[in-house]
Amino acid sequence: MNPDNKTLKILDELESLAEKDLNPQSGKLFSHTYDHGIHELKRLTIDAYLKYIDKTMLDFTVYPSILKMETDIVKFANKIFHNQEGVGNYTYGGTESIILAMKACREYFREKYGKTFIPKAVLPATAHPAFYKAALYLGYKVKVITDLGNDYVANADALNEVLDEDTVFVAASAPSYPYGTMDDIKGFSEIAQDKKLWLHVDACIGGFVLPFIERLGHRIDPFDFRLEGVTSLSADLHKYGYAPKGASLILYRDPEYRLGQIYVHSKWPGYPLVNTTVLSSRGAGPLAASWAIIKYLGIEGFTDLTRRIVSAKNKIINGLKKLNLDILGRPVSSIVAFTTWDYKVFQICDHMKKRGWYIQAQPGSKKLGFPPSIHLTIAPIHDAYAQEFLDNLAEVVHGLKSIEIDVGNILSALGITEESRPSDLKKKIDFIIDLLGIDKDTVSGEMSLINILIHEIEPDIVEYLLANIINRLFT
Ligand SMILES: Cc1ncc(COP(=O)(O)O)c(C=O)c1O
Repeated sequence: MNPDNKTLKILDELESLAEKDLNPQSGKLFSHTYDHGIHELKRLTIDAYLKYIDKTMLDFTVYPSILKMETDIVKFANKIFHNQEGVGNYTYGGTESIILAMKACREYFREKYGKTFIPKAVLPATAHPAFYKAALYLGYKVKVITDLGNDYVANADALNEVLDEDTVFVAASAPSYPYGTMDDIKGFSEIAQDKKLWLHVDACIGGFVLPFIERLGHRIDPFDFRLEGVTSLSADLHKYGYAPKGASLILYRDPEYRLGQIYVHSKWPGYPLVNTTVLSSRGAGPLAASWAIIKYLGIEGFTDLTRRIVSAKNKIINGLKKLNLDILGRPVSSIVAFTTWDYKVFQICDHMKKRGWYIQAQPGSKKLGFPPSIHLTIAPIHDAYAQEFLDNLAEVVHGLKSIEIDVGNILSALGITEESRPSDLKKKIDFIIDLLGIDKDTVSGEMSLINILIHEIEPDIVEYLLANIINRLFT
């Protein structure tokens, strides 16, 4: 059936709406996308997704195939993470998996210490913001491991330093998003076992890469359920599981630990609501696509794709070194971060963007001691683009000039001082947004100045400003 005119017009409009969007399949994005570049697999993913576009994951009594696909996927993951006795669920993203692990942990310890117990979580400073968000939603107190050393790794001594009686939850990254570094999970595991803490391994970004790097014969420090102290682990299918967004897993060593994750409500006139996740109605498209991808790739297919990631990563690391760019930490998986140590690093992002490349600026923070840097998420498709990327990067780096920005002047024009508190800025917020010229059109443009300011300004103020900017942009 040919589409009617109305349909064609709307599709045209969508096409022009997307004109300024970057193309996730161009091989030129080093964040947000995990392209494998296999045409048939892309086709299969779309077909599987579309087959389930109308089905909800809410009710497996109506759609039993959903329960089957979810358990198949969990089984596959439990095999690669050496959790054969364990259990798990499909979720809609890494954040949801983390919220659920922290919810399960909270209920587990409330069973022990009573309903009013306020749990405390310890997070390495490189841990993903999803943990802070979960802590906020679930009423956890948070203690951060700030003592990371030059390698940006949280080790067992640093963990021991911050533990106290209220601590029940400890997070470790495998690896961390900003630098691709892995915490001392073996050390954490020993402490967790000894002190009976809940250790969650955030393998959201590394989960579907690290086991295959190991399979390729490279040494990976232990991070999964082979370590007895690991209680739960999150791994995102919508990252290196190559699935469409809306796909992650939360796994537990034992069903006993998962119990607090499950939400049930039957005190209403309707059907008994039974949820394994935060969301209730969810499209089953991403689940079906994830299932089909795992069937298509299997362990061998994932290993082959990982071989291409490792090849791309090695080319890129060598190229960065030749350009005298410093790599931050030890990139153990598929994430590489580098820096010039100054604000020129942000110009690199802006200039590369003009050439069609997206590399992600990481403002870091003067106050917290994190340098300005650039993050690269390396996907299989980058193996074919690595040389072109490095050639473009070399031209940009050789043309860099030092940045002539008087940050002090800008801050005083904005009325932000070292003593400013978020509440002081309440009345100035529109003025600040206008003076910085932030509107719907500028946010996809040059970002050097904004990144410099984020680095310079006290983080509480940055968070306040960003929340207000977002509040204004989404209108
Ligand atoms: C290490 C890590 N944890 C958690 C998350 C959160 O995942 P999501 O964006 O799917 O919620 C990410 C996302 O990049 C991540 O890299």
